Amino acid sequence: MPIETDILDASDPTQIEQAAALLRQGELVAFPTETVYGLGANGTSAEAVAKIFAAKGRPADNPLILHVGSIEQALPLWQASSLQTQRARTLAAAHWPGALSLVLPAAKFIPTEVTAGLDSVAIRAPAHPIAQALLQQCEFPLAAPSANLSGRPSPTTASHVQKTLGGRITAILDGGPTSVGIESTVLDLRPEQPRILRHGGISASSIEQVIGSLNKLESPADAASPGLRHHHYQPIGIKVELLGAESISDLWDSDSGIACWTELASKLGTRNAPLWVMPDTAAEYAAALYKTLYQIEESGVVKVLVELPPETGEWAAILDRLRRAASSEG
Ligand code: TXA
Ligand code: MG
Repeated sequence: MPIETDILDASDPTQIEQAAALLRQGELVAFPTETVYGLGANGTSAEAVAKIFAAKGRPADNPLILHVGSIEQALPLWQASSLQTQRARTLAAAHWPGALSLVLPAAKFIPTEVTAGLDSVAIRAPAHPIAQALLQQCEFPLAAPSANLSGRPSPTTASHVQKTLGGRITAILDGGPTSVGIESTVLDLRPEQPRILRHGGISASSIEQVIGSLNKLESPADAASPGLRHHHYQPIGIKVELLGAESISDLWDSDSGIACWTELASKLGTRNAPLWVMPDTAAEYAAALYKTLYQIEESGVVKVLVELPPETGEWAAILDRLRRAASSEG
């Protein structure tokens, strides 16, 4: 049975209060963070958290990130050694509030629905002022995955949320488009040498500047971060191909959509099929990425050729998302 999804306007403080009241009642409310919109629920209530999995169609083995206001609020939710605590504090001082989720052993009272049965929990303090205001009004951490149906691109606007979760959740707190545009970096702080489980808004090098070198060994993603083994970010019914500039030039006159940088677009000029000229910097590209995936979906193309980003650290998170959008395995 579809339910009516209320749109709340975050520029009105009483509507933020209303969102907090719904969360207190155990309801699901999507809210803006600086990365992407999150689908929030009371992270201490197994029953509320279970609703997230039902609304998203999320596989039960994929754990959730807890959102808190500050490192002081995060520490009691972990069972960390003194070295782990010290590293978490150092990283939080540098990058919180911000797009960095830290994984440490979970305190015993964290519902297994949040951890998906793992003995660790990922926590971050979002930087978005509306997320912070909402957290201040809730006396519990908010469990929040990206607010999209499982497998779909993450939402960077309230209307993206409405598109895949409208009729399935109680409310969406609309705070306009998000600024970072891709999800947080997930960092495993348990090992002696910490390791990135998911590339995201904070680059590996800016983490290394704070705690020294990270473990760069690629290990099977499924062992480390369950979310990475699931299908993700795919525009429905569209084949996404990642190609170099030369291959895209050869296919310029095809019927496929093309998403490329200004240099290629200005060299080759207009075309009949849709063209998305992507921003040149990684930060601006990230901010535009999911919006573009949703636009591609609405454009009617059956195939889109995406110019391959460079294999450098600052493009790592974007390359990861594009590869998964292009992956054809089920
Ligand atoms: O920016 C973000 O991280 C957004 C906003 C809403 O905060 N949230 C988000 O959540 O992207 P979600 O659920 O879509 O992705 C969380 C990722 C998944 O890949 C999940 O497997 C991983 O984090 N994760 C969560 N808890 C974990 C844990 N204890 N150990 C390893 N990976 C974990
Ligand atoms: Mg997600």
